[in-house]
Amino acid sequence: MKHEKIEKNINLMSVLIIVVISIGGLIEILPLMASSAATEPYEGVRPYPALQLAGRDVYVREGCYACHSQQIRPFRSETERYGPYSVAGEFVYDRPFQFGSKRTGPDLARVGKRYSDDWHRIHMMNPRDVVPESNMPGYPWLAKNMVDGELIASKMKTLQTLGDPYTDEEIAAAAQAVAGKTELDAIIDYLQNLGTVRSAR
Ligand code: HEC
Repeated sequence: MKHEKIEKNINLMSVLIIVVISIGGLIEILPLMASSAATEPYEGVRPYPALQLAGRDVYVREGCYACHSQQIRPFRSETERYGPYSVAGEFVYDRPFQFGSKRTGPDLARVGKRYSDDWHRIHMMNPRDVVPESNMPGYPWLAKNMVDGELIASKMKTLQTLGDPYTDEEIAAAAQAVAGKTELDAIIDYLQNLGTVRSAR
């Protein structure tokens, strides 16, 4: 009888649904917020230096996450192919994180140092020059766009406000660090450092 009352009253049912989902959500989320493994940086993980931060912005802008994940799951088939599985502490400075869920291309969480800078340069301009069967698009305009130093410095300042441990010296030196660099230089610097802190390679 009581159940019938709930089923016939959509407002009451909505409230009860929200209560039930909230309990489920809190049980999953709260322990994670208290766990240092999920909130503290993995040993050696630092906020992105200026050029890598610029490269990461290009990665987000160009939508690389639509074809590439950045999260290696703890399965043998993944660790044999990509390297050590990902842990939460590796991503504390990723805003927003780039885990992704689509793997048209390989996972990139540990692509750092796997290829030379020159390989990436050719691959980003036209992937088919190094991988003939690739269906990844080329990004030739990245070689023409310059990185905006002032913009990167102000982004680092904002991230500092949000709690990323950038020093004032790092921010002051940011414009100089990216001076004369193209977006192609930036994204390669970003890719070459992905996952290297925990990589066994
Ligand atoms: C339409 C899907 C698609 C998009 C979008 C895409 N890729 Fe790819 N990517 C692929 C495929 C497929 C491969 C595997 C073949 C190859 O190496 O080209 C690949 C390979 C790669 C590799 C080599 C990985 C390895 O371990 O061999 C890198 C690095 C890479 N992509 C970076 C990027 C970046 C950076 C962007 C965004 C600027 C991007 N990709 C956008 C599909 C895509």
